[in-house]
This record gives sequence, C-alpha cells and structure tokens, in this order.
Amino acid sequence: MNINELKKEIDAAITQIKNENDCATFHQKYLSKSGIITNQMATIKDLPADQRGKFGADINILKRDTESRLFILQSQIKERELNNKLMQDNLVDITIPDITRETGSLHPITRIAREVEEVFASMGFHIESGREIVTEYENFESVNVPNNHPARDMQDTFWLSNGNVLKTHTSALQNILLKKHGPSFSAIFPGRCYRNENLDATHEMAFFQVEGMMVGENITISNLIYFLKTALTTVFKKEIDVRLRPGFFPFTEPSFEFDMSCIFCGTKDGCSICKKSGWIEFCGCGMIHPNVLEMGGVDPNKYQGFAFGFGLTRLVMMKYGISDIRVFNSGNLEALKSI
Ligand code: FA5
Repeated sequence: MNINELKKEIDAAITQIKNENDCATFHQKYLSKSGIITNQMATIKDLPADQRGKFGADINILKRDTESRLFILQSQIKERELNNKLMQDNLVDITIPDITRETGSLHPITRIAREVEEVFASMGFHIESGREIVTEYENFESVNVPNNHPARDMQDTFWLSNGNVLKTHTSALQNILLKKHGPSFSAIFPGRCYRNENLDATHEMAFFQVEGMMVGENITISNLIYFLKTALTTVFKKEIDVRLRPGFFPFTEPSFEFDMSCIFCGTKDGCSICKKSGWIEFCGCGMIHPNVLEMGGVDPNKYQGFAFGFGLTRLVMMKYGISDIRVFNSGNLEALKSI
C-alpha cells in the first residue's frame, strides 16, 4: 500500500473525530491488532530486501505519529467533556491544583551535571552512569592500584562486609567502559563517590565527581586540554585559561594537575580564593596508563587515551560562590533555594 495515500486518508479521518466514540472507532480501524497500520507492518517481512528498510521506517513513523495525534485528541476531548459536565452540574473541579502548592526544583548539583553533560555530548562524548557499589577490582586493581599499594591510603574507603566498596572515585568505571566500548570511544560519567573523610567546608563524605575518557589512535594530552577548556568556558560563560603541572596518579602516565584561571579575579591580580596565585586547582588528569588499557582489553601498543576526574560538587561551589560544601547534603531547603 502507498504510505502517502494512507497518511492522507488518516489526516482526513482524524479531522472527523468529534468525541470519545469516534476515537475508539478510529483506533479500531487504524491502530488495533487488525487495524490497517498494523496489517501494513506485518507485510514488511514479505517485501524485497531493498524496499524493507525504507518502508519499515516510514510505516513506523506513521504509526508513532498517528498514536500521538490520537492521544492528544483524546486528552483534549476528555478535558472538554469534563468541563462541559462541570458547567452543566455547577460542580467544582477538584483536580485543579491548589495555587499555593510549591513546585520542586532541581538540586544545583543536578543542574550543573546536566550542563556539563550537554557540553560534552555536543563534542561527541557518550554520557555513562555507573553503580555506587563497585568491586575492589574495579575501584583499585583495574586502575593500577594493587593491594598494599600506598595510593590506596589517598582515598579512605568504606568497605562493605562482602568485600565490595562504595566507589571512592569515578575512575572505578574506567575498566568497565574499556571493556564495554573497546579501543575507540569518548565518554564522561558523573557519579556519587564516598570517602571516609573528616568533614569540613571543602570535604564531604559523599560528593560527586565527573570522569572523562577518550581512547583511540593518536590521542594526545592536547585533546584533553581542548575539551576541558571548552567545557569550563561554557559552564562559567567566560573565557577560562588553563595550565598543566606535573602530578601523580597510578592510573595515568604522565599525570598532571589541571589548573584553571581564577574565575573570581582572573590570573592577573590574585585574590583570597586563589591564594593570590591567580590559578585554581581543578582536577587530576593524564594519559591512561598502559596497564589500565591492557586490563580493559585494549592494546596499549596501538591505542592511547586520556582520562580526567574532577569534583562536580566543588565545581558547583565555584560557579555559585558557595563557601561550605556541607550545604549540599544538609537538606536545608532555604539555603539550597537561594543558590
Ligand atoms: C581522583 O579521584 C582521581 N580518580 C582523578 C583522576 C581521574 C585523575 C582520572 C587522573 C585521571 P582526587 O582524589 O584528587 O583524584 O579527586 C578528584 C576531585 O574530587 C578533587 O579534585 C576534588 O574536587 C574532589 N574530591 C575529592 N575528595 C573530595 C571530598 N571529600 N569532598 C568533595 N570533593 C572531593
């Protein structure tokens, strides 16, 4: 059957719908199990191979469109019929929301996470999510931190009685993603992390990080600089300068500390936030260690990649000038609303 003709027929039939009975008749004729659209979909398998793809796509689009048009029409008819009934019976509509009811809003961390996701997605990165409970292997061994390695002490860990851990960093997903995507991909993964910290204005026990990875052939640290600089400039809505200093992480080689120009004073003058240096420490990063690639099933002789991991909670603090991290988990709605 010609899809354009069927579409025209459906357009005409939809304009004739006046009430709920008409909706039911329309549904029966086009969308039910024995309806015309459903019958057409059943013919896809009998078509010559070169026609199947286009016909299948067109009929699926027509089905979705028709369903959603009918749904919208049905809702409008229902609402109109309810209003007519209320007018006739002189009744009060108890479904109208109380105008004094407060609506919810997104937590500032969710808002910034979405901004970060959007900018990285626009640069071709997958957005991934992961578990909060991970295995010891995922959190440590797979990122080149074997048992008894001193780097384990850098992240005071919550251990579960079955040997698993509450992930101490989003790097715990690196191995999973290397195995999932293979040797060529780029992804970011925001997630909640846990460390058994002494709480103060800049340290929480539960906080958010964002990890980023890009793996492939000919990936260099300059790619990382470009993507992070673009993301920061977008989030802060002004040009951000960046610089790298040597650093150490067991899962990257070489490793760097990534600094951004102070968003409060720029790099010129220095202020109390940047301790007069003009720079703010933003995150750790580097080229993914060959051992990490190998454990993820990727050949380090052929492929390279970069990784970075920054504190999303601290980014939100910088963006909104919040001086005490404890406000985020406090449940203090007044304080959160003012952000
Ligand atoms: C890491 O967690 C590394 N996994 C980052 C990394 C990834 C480096 C990939 C290289 C390659 P670090 O422990 O420095 O690194 O934590 C990263 C960020 O998490 C910190 O800069 C900070 O912003 C945030 N962070 C760490 N601990 C806390 C905490 N207790 N409260 C709030 N934010 C924290």
